[in-house]
Amino acid sequence: MSDSAGSRWNAAADLLACPICAGALGPVGASLRCATGHSFDVARQGYVSLLTGKGTNHRSDTADMVAARGRIFDAGLYLPITAAVAAECRDASVILDAGGGPGQYLAAALDAAGDSAVGVGLDLSRYCARSAAKRHPRGFSVVADLWAGLPIRDGVADTVLSVFAPRNPAETARVLAPGGRWVVVTPEPGHLAEIVEPMHMLSVREGKSARLAHDLAADFDDVTATRVTAEAVFDEDRLVDVAAMGPAGFHRSRDELATAAAELSAGDPVPATLDVTVTVARRR
Ligand SMILES: C[S@@+](CC[C@H](N)C(=O)[O-])C[C@H]1O[C@@H](n2cnc3c(N)ncnc32)[C@H](O)[C@@H]1O
Repeated sequence: MSDSAGSRWNAAADLLACPICAGALGPVGASLRCATGHSFDVARQGYVSLLTGKGTNHRSDTADMVAARGRIFDAGLYLPITAAVAAECRDASVILDAGGGPGQYLAAALDAAGDSAVGVGLDLSRYCARSAAKRHPRGFSVVADLWAGLPIRDGVADTVLSVFAPRNPAETARVLAPGGRWVVVTPEPGHLAEIVEPMHMLSVREGKSARLAHDLAADFDDVTATRVTAEAVFDEDRLVDVAAMGPAGFHRSRDELATAAAELSAGDPVPATLDVTVTVARRR
């Protein structure tokens, strides 16, 4: 870690917690270290893994899935959703993006929040973490398993993002300051409905809103929900990418998805509906 990278991580010292003893972490040479002496190397790609020795049994996004997701965002296809998330973050100071993927939502949120805001992008996938480390100069990229507890200090965040990602409500409540907001994006049954079946994608499971209500019940109130719908137009390559960036990326080869995309598009761009709900709830 260069000196400038080291001083960059100073800004994270107030936010990150040692995953072993929960003490504050600060930069020491090319590592982050707590007062007890637990030490975590900052990778040369700019992220730090705070996974502990036990590792994790959970499956995280692969390099191919992350690359596909990056191309979908770079093509602007999810812009209405990114913009809706960013709009909720205009007055944020400290943002945690939990299950943040390649970091595009955190980057947009930090841009909307202004020059003094900082953020942590947290994901189980080191491929996501590598991408997120490059996305924004005020974003810190961390590999961690959100089911094992968030390696974030109590009450330091005013905003937590959970965008198409697994949620840990108790830990989210712990890291949010009272009055802080949890911004949750969930797909509606109509999301990409035109292409789900032909592209071998998973349809939205029933009961998503009941599960979110359950997650919010203990520690959150002032809940508002905003539906975001828009049309996105996919060419053949982006049809492959939008399938490959999700669970189909675990089960289908790129060749299989390319065959499905060619059949579906027959040489023409394919319009599909973006349909999500952005829910914002306040920490009690
Ligand atoms: C559908 S992706 C959404 C990523 C990003 N929020 C977006 O919308 O582009 C879900 C993300 O959650 C991450 N993830 C899955 N299980 C996780 C866990 N236990 N802890 C942290 N991240 C996890 C995956 O690696 C993946 O990047």
